[in-house]
Amino acid sequence: MKKFAFLFIALAVICTGGAFAQAKVGVSIYKFDDTFMSYVRGKIESEAKAAGTTISVQDGQGDQSKQNDIVDLFLTQGYNSLAINMVEPASASVVIAKAAKKKVPLVLFNREPGDLDLAKYPGVYYVGAKAQESGTMEGQIAVNYWKAKKPAGAVMHYVMLIGDPANTDAKYRTEFSIKAVEAAGIKVEKLAEDTAMWQRGDAQNKMQAWLAKFGDKIDFVFANNDDMALGAIEALKAAGYFTGSKYMPVVGVDATPPALDALKQGTLLGTVLNDAVNQGKATYDLAAQLGAQKPIKTVAPLANKDGKADPNGHYVWVPYQMVTK
Ligand code: GAL
Repeated sequence: MKKFAFLFIALAVICTGGAFAQAKVGVSIYKFDDTFMSYVRGKIESEAKAAGTTISVQDGQGDQSKQNDIVDLFLTQGYNSLAINMVEPASASVVIAKAAKKKVPLVLFNREPGDLDLAKYPGVYYVGAKAQESGTMEGQIAVNYWKAKKPAGAVMHYVMLIGDPANTDAKYRTEFSIKAVEAAGIKVEKLAEDTAMWQRGDAQNKMQAWLAKFGDKIDFVFANNDDMALGAIEALKAAGYFTGSKYMPVVGVDATPPALDALKQGTLLGTVLNDAVNQGKATYDLAAQLGAQKPIKTVAPLANKDGKADPNGHYVWVPYQMVTK
């Protein structure tokens, strides 16, 4: 009888431990002080908590060598799955080599590396969104506004706030937003572009300087993300915009809650949903399932680098969505 009682308790412990109790997931975010990534992080943590998965989430503090140390520590502490949001996507091969050496699965997310080099290590995956898509959608928002408000042939004089220039999202949003405007037959003239490293304060300073230099010559403000769009809006407000008839169209990407508030107030023209919830869920699912050696199943099908569904693929692409109200 005693033996049965023991067996029962042991089984109960296994069951309440959840399907992913064997997974021990080490997570690092490139820096905690990034608005969008804080939502992705929140989702990873809440999923792990709900499933009873052991997880540790560490701040890379914008320093790749610090993040490399975090990865080393996870590996010596017996974490059996890693989810890493690279500080420097170009250094992904270093982190991949560390995981490969210990044969620990690795999920990279949100900051896309150049190539996963699957031939070297097949245990690596990437979860993210197609940056080109977000750029095209930003451009589409600009086109819809321009066609509704301006006479045919009007040239769009614009300024561009760029995220971290070493980042694929920044590069493609800058390029594809303007490509979409030009593809719609609208002539553009770039007055200025500069990096504000995804940050609101830096963007506010840049916009203030551009307003001092170009004033009303600026027709349109593109920002690679919402935090920078909101920084630009602050500078515009200080210069008297958004009162009376003084208006400036500003677009961003992410659809963070403060950006959605600005949209409601009419200061932000539009944004693109960068789906933090589903990126966080897909990252957690993959890392936990790989760590627990369970079949892989998540919010979007496994795909290849180009986005084609492929059950043997190593990418999960979470779609963007245009948001204008
Ligand atoms: C982007 C996001 C930005 C910033 C960046 C960090 O996807 O739009 O706001 O979080 O990732 O790499």
